[in-house]
Amino acid sequence: MELIISPDPASASRRAAALIAALVREKPDAVLGLATGSTPLRLYQELIRMHRAEGLDFSKVRTFNLDEYLGLGPEHPASYRHFMRTNFFDHIGVDPTQTHIPSGLVNGHVVPAECARYEELIRSAGGIDLQILGIGSDGHIGFNEPGSSLASRTRIKTLTKRTREDNARFFSSPDDVPHHVLTMGIGTIMESRTVLLLAFGESKASAIAGAVEGPITSSNPASILQMHQETKFLVDEGAASKLERSDYYRWVYDNKPAWQRVEGDR
Ligand code: GLP
Repeated sequence: MELIISPDPASASRRAAALIAALVREKPDAVLGLATGSTPLRLYQELIRMHRAEGLDFSKVRTFNLDEYLGLGPEHPASYRHFMRTNFFDHIGVDPTQTHIPSGLVNGHVVPAECARYEELIRSAGGIDLQILGIGSDGHIGFNEPGSSLASRTRIKTLTKRTREDNARFFSSPDDVPHHVLTMGIGTIMESRTVLLLAFGESKASAIAGAVEGPITSSNPASILQMHQETKFLVDEGAASKLERSDYYRWVYDNKPAWQRVEGDR
């Protein structure tokens, strides 16, 4: 696990983009796990820029998103399918049939079948090479709210009041935020070969301090990443502001051997 404090979201996003670009250049059919929310937007913009300006080729890449709201179809402006299309997929030349997001239009008995289908799709793609994560202000990853089993797989979850409030800005009215979602499980996320968790701003500072320096607990689902060997937390000063060992993380970064550095750092 590595904690990298960047001066601002733009530089943290450039670093994440450099790591993804390096993977895609080395493995053109890489399997990327993708996230939604405001946090990864700069990262997606930087990857779009690299596609246009540097010919970064996404044509063979396969993608799996973390989650989707139940009840929202792909054309709904707040659906994560719509978010991904407009903010990323439409601009990078990826094959749309290779972009996977759980269906928000399943109901009743079809829900577990859709979740099993999603798990099987990830497995048959060979697993996720690199998973992008944001973090909820309560420590959730994907939509795995506090109390989620740390071994969970893709399944239906009920959002907390706080997450519905946090995400209300994407909907015309707070009451429109669905109560239920499908999300990759924490066990599913933990099988990704590499994880990049991005967090920006003071509203994420407690969640980050708990995840990185607190006990491993389902009360802060991101804390399970302490058990993941290839996880990088890419945070800005605001999100780092409650870390007790921030001086040490900066010291580690500043003294990295040259060969460990990635083009695009800071
Ligand atoms: C949602 C998503 C998460 C995301 C979180 C934080 O709940 N399901 O994947 O990390 O929002 O969003 P933001 O980046 O907008 O703060």
